[in-house]
Amino acid sequence: MTTNNSGCSYCLGIESTADDFGAAVVSFDGKVLSNANDAYTPKKGGIHPREAARHHAEVAEKVLAEAFETAAVKPRDISLVAFAQGPGLGPCLRTGATAARALASYLDVPLVGVNHCVGHIEVGKLATGAKDPVTLYVSGGNTIISAFEAHRYRIFGETLDIAIGNCLDVFARAVGLQQKKGAPFGAIVEQLALKGEKLVSLPYTVKGMDLSFSGLLTAAVSAFQSNNGSIEDVCYSLQEVAFSMLTEVTERALAHTEKPEVLLTGGVAANKKLQSMLTVIAEEHDARFCVVPLKLAADNGAMIAWAGILAYKSGITTPLDKSYVDVKWRLEEVYAPWVEAQLC
Ligand code: ATP
Ligand code: FE2
Repeated sequence: MTTNNSGCSYCLGIESTADDFGAAVVSFDGKVLSNANDAYTPKKGGIHPREAARHHAEVAEKVLAEAFETAAVKPRDISLVAFAQGPGLGPCLRTGATAARALASYLDVPLVGVNHCVGHIEVGKLATGAKDPVTLYVSGGNTIISAFEAHRYRIFGETLDIAIGNCLDVFARAVGLQQKKGAPFGAIVEQLALKGEKLVSLPYTVKGMDLSFSGLLTAAVSAFQSNNGSIEDVCYSLQEVAFSMLTEVTERALAHTEKPEVLLTGGVAANKKLQSMLTVIAEEHDARFCVVPLKLAADNGAMIAWAGILAYKSGITTPLDKSYVDVKWRLEEVYAPWVEAQLC
């Protein structure tokens, strides 16, 4: 294994599952030395996978150079290249995977394909000190409640249709909210919700341990369009209903598993209302509430590098001929032997 003069080993992590192209250098002892990123912003509407992939190919060299420069680590000091192998958008994943394969081959170092959801959980544990949490991962493309049991991160609940972040973004666009200074739509809904007073009736859909947000989205848009409530009231009601659904399922997972922590991650983790609702259930179950700092909660290269390091240390590498991307790679399919070692 390559080590520099100080005896340290470093991993380069590449994230490219959706709209972000991220590259980061993380040391094997868990220091995030850089976390460079360039996000694709669609001119109109949601993400177009091919356009996002073209963006990633265009910015890859610049983002990688920034990751090395900020970390003050030379490419030849890298011991491992990790990349997001799935789940995500095919064209975007393939762009990151191609860059990772090329770099690992050129530097003659091992390659590790990382599951994006595992990356979120592991960097969340690193950032907050959580050891064995129930994790609520909420973003534009994912809504998953999970916890570790018997060699794997098990999915206790998830969305049956759209993700909560997507629900907030599509709602915001449909009712004509404008993004100011690049603020995410979810944050704009959050600000408006603070001024809401009246609870508008919206559908609350939890099926077993799974959730559905598409009917809630349609009803929220229609409540606004038919003047059933002001924009502030509808934003307030949308958050109340959606976050109560997320909190209910997270609480049930917590009651079942009796885990010591609740970990909130993904871009929607920035929401203070959601944080406060989860704080209450964590307290009721004597669990510690942990929220991942935003720069590590949203998609980033550091989470891929750190999960890659953990996998590599437990003997896992991805040979080139097995490094094809898997757009539907589920969290619970990942064998995670390093977690048992962490829990010992
Ligand atoms: P993934 O690939 O993991 O699905 P992503 O590409 O959606 O991730 P993230 O940055 O993790 O990227 O999440 C973005 C989402 O977070 C958007 O839907 C955005 O509206 C939402 N978001 C950001 N800030 C807030 C906030 N304060 N409240 C609610 N939602 C927020
Ligand atoms: Fe993500």
